[in-house]
Amino acid sequence: MTSPEFTRPEMSPLRLREVTLPNRVWMSPMAQYAAGQDGKPNDWHLVHYGARAVGAVGLIMVEASAVGPLHRTTTADLGIWNEDQAAVHRRLTSFIRERGTVPGIQLQAAGRKGSHQLPWVGAGQNGSVRAAGGGWQTFGPSPIPFGDLATPREADHADIDEVVAAFAHAARMADLAGYQVVEIQASHGYLLHQFLSPLSNRRTDEYGGSPQNRMRLALQVARAVRDAFPADNPVSVRITATDWIEGGLTIDDSVLFAKELAVVGIDLLDITSGLVVRDQEARPPIRAGVHVEFAAILKNATGLAVTAVGQIDDVSLIGELVANGQLDAAMMGRPLLRDPYFALRQRPADKEAWPDQYQRAL
Ligand SMILES: Cc1cc2nc3c(=O)[nH]c(=O)nc-3n(C[C@H](O)[C@H](O)[C@H](O)COP(=O)(O)O)c2cc1C
Repeated sequence: MTSPEFTRPEMSPLRLREVTLPNRVWMSPMAQYAAGQDGKPNDWHLVHYGARAVGAVGLIMVEASAVGPLHRTTTADLGIWNEDQAAVHRRLTSFIRERGTVPGIQLQAAGRKGSHQLPWVGAGQNGSVRAAGGGWQTFGPSPIPFGDLATPREADHADIDEVVAAFAHAARMADLAGYQVVEIQASHGYLLHQFLSPLSNRRTDEYGGSPQNRMRLALQVARAVRDAFPADNPVSVRITATDWIEGGLTIDDSVLFAKELAVVGIDLLDITSGLVVRDQEARPPIRAGVHVEFAAILKNATGLAVTAVGQIDDVSLIGELVANGQLDAAMMGRPLLRDPYFALRQRPADKEAWPDQYQRAL
């Protein structure tokens, strides 16, 4: 007999292209800074993601994984730029898939936020690692630094072409690795967001100035990734709804961008905000479900499936948001760091979701 839990909206499946996500409670990408210089996942990643798969979330979006060595944020980032890495990622994807969870991976280029220290070392994300210390020269749309980090050089057209090609290649590697969903990181102040936002992009060529020009690189990447990833599998883009500061991106800019992403054939928008400048005032306010209203606006404007992240720590709230059509699913971050079984524990009656091995705990 079907458990009543399965009639709850947050527990209903969602189909995107040919992939069925078993429920609407998803794990947000969260960098672990636990890989070696080779960018390959290791035991930490298997145990960390494996535990959340046992925790029965519908989708695990594996952390921001660099599309090339010079696109990392730190020397401990995961990478998805070669076949050796893809082969090791397979350990993660096969375990996640065995548990009935869908594995996805976020593809990332750091731009001016690259080459920083590990968050728990020295100045952390505020401290650049220079070339002499094993770091590298970063580039961005314009030679404007993020906070105290090193000043990036201005990307030339060869850099821009390389970024597009690297994302497309990474999408092919993600498929080889067994990921069923890829997400393009176009938020949180990383390279694509740096091009989108007038706060970090002061270019005067066709990649700067008007909204169309600032969107150009992100749309080229979206098109290249969509073409490179199998037609049966969904592509998500994590976008910033607002920069929260005068002169930055607003929800109107994001609507324009989202409509273009729909034309490209993107399947899912993952809504977040902020972090393109260091200013504390430009951070998302402390408010439950802070991005949900933006997600609903973007869903209405595009007809695309949407998910939102940020301060959602109640599985039944996700059900309400799905039932009233504001979200198609919700991403959870820190609650799942605190407890890998967070989503499962909120469904004690949902016996079928609990592993056979744990049934005697119920
Ligand atoms: C340790 C940590 C690492 C993160 N790494 C990423 C990342 O790789 N990519 C990304 O888009 N967001 C990253 N984020 C942001 C989260 O995905 C999420 O947007 C944020 O934590 C807000 O959601 P929450 O309130 O559910 O935690 C990270 C957050 C944390 C706490």
